[in-house]
Amino acid sequence: MHFLLFPVFTVALCRASQSQTPLGVVGDNTPGHLCCTVLSKSLPELALHLPGSLEYDRQQETYYLRQQTDLLPFCRVSPATPSEVALTIKTLTKHACHFSVRSGGHMGCVGSNTDGGVVLDLGRLDGIDVDKRGISLLSFQHGFGSDNVVNYQVVLADGSIVDANATFHPDLFWALKLGGTNFGIVTRFDVLTYPLKDVWSGIRTYPITAHETPQLLDNWISFTQDSASVKEELQAICLGRHNTHERAIVWHASLDTSPSAPLTLAASIIDTTKTTTLLDAIHDLQFNFADHKRVRWFTFTTRLDASFLWDVFSRAKEIYDELEHVSGIHWDVLIQPITRGFSAASSETGENPFRNVLMESGDDLALVLLSAYWDHRADDEAMYDGMRKLGSWSEDTARQRGILNDFIYLNYANEEQPVYARSVNRDDLARMRKVKQTYDSEDVLGRLWKGGFKLPHDSSDEHWGFESAARTEL
Ligand SMILES: *[C@@H]1O[C@H](CO)[C@@H](O)[C@H](O)[C@H]1NC(C)=O
Repeated sequence: MHFLLFPVFTVALCRASQSQTPLGVVGDNTPGHLCCTVLSKSLPELALHLPGSLEYDRQQETYYLRQQTDLLPFCRVSPATPSEVALTIKTLTKHACHFSVRSGGHMGCVGSNTDGGVVLDLGRLDGIDVDKRGISLLSFQHGFGSDNVVNYQVVLADGSIVDANATFHPDLFWALKLGGTNFGIVTRFDVLTYPLKDVWSGIRTYPITAHETPQLLDNWISFTQDSASVKEELQAICLGRHNTHERAIVWHASLDTSPSAPLTLAASIIDTTKTTTLLDAIHDLQFNFADHKRVRWFTFTTRLDASFLWDVFSRAKEIYDELEHVSGIHWDVLIQPITRGFSAASSETGENPFRNVLMESGDDLALVLLSAYWDHRADDEAMYDGMRKLGSWSEDTARQRGILNDFIYLNYANEEQPVYARSVNRDDLARMRKVKQTYDSEDVLGRLWKGGFKLPHDSSDEHWGFESAARTEL
């Protein structure tokens, strides 16, 4: 349920750059159709949508991933209140019905829709108490988005609704910061907000050259290692190719309204940086869902190393050059800082299960998101293969060079990535299993909630954490 405004944003940065115009910028056998019939009897009429209805189609069309839109559930349920979520869960578990849950629909993997079966779409829940002015955009000062959550309201496997926070159910609160589809359905979360100020923000776009771009990366690293500047400004970089254009895009978001120096002496092609309100800065980087493509992501984390990042870009070029016949292909390498200060911020707001892995080297880090986009299902296999090759090459190389950090950011991971096994250390995994035991001892959610990252059961089972809803047998 919780995703970070800041990363979602920088994904938007890469996507935005692709337009050529300057940016204004259990007994698990109950068949799905029977489950839908039972639900239609217990829920208000407005909450259930069948194929062919306008609302069903609307929800299907608003997934970020085209691959998710391909999946067709028997019905989609849109509860309007936490009690309706609870009622839905009780009905589904009583009848051993498989289901998937969709919240934002922004995930980079197929996990929130299902072929056959039931989807709970949480789009009508308005209890998400995030300040609509978008304050948490600049939470790079304050840790991950989830670090700023002070309370989760969650529907548990038995259909009860509880608050989890630092005082009540503190272990559940901690585990939910990397909750996946294991502990319950979050129906509301409260986040800390920060005072709204004017910002200086926008993107600067440059051509990619073998001379200037490595220099730009070097300068970005110097900037990122300077804790004084990083406290005031976030800079993220996107290197990518769209059509035949190779572009380096730098996203600036500064709390200080005076412009910061460019990262390169090269002339920019596009410069949208300006002093603006935070709200307008967000508006300038809005998602463009109209450009609805097939997408593959892969993410990893490394220490800051400019020549490695340049090598990843060069390897991506080699791999995608071989796929240039694929219709609509484009790709990019998005690089975001996770500085020491950023990781430390989480300790002030109640900890989380991945902090220990992130802090292992005590160093500033780069969170890298590899993305590829294309048009047709026929090319899925080739594009998945390409990403697999690029992802494992990147991780292997970083490991050989001694700069890989094990952390895999759940919100960016694809379903082949072992998020829990890598992002959570042994002790913390054991603690998460204990929480699981307390709140869902029969593993009802493991059996019925299809899709998403699943906590590995024991240490022999730590390699495959993701379950795809796509292949649910119903
Ligand atoms: C924690 O949960 C309790 C019990 O529901 C609630 O009264 C309290 O306000 C919550 N704390 C926060 C910070 O939301």
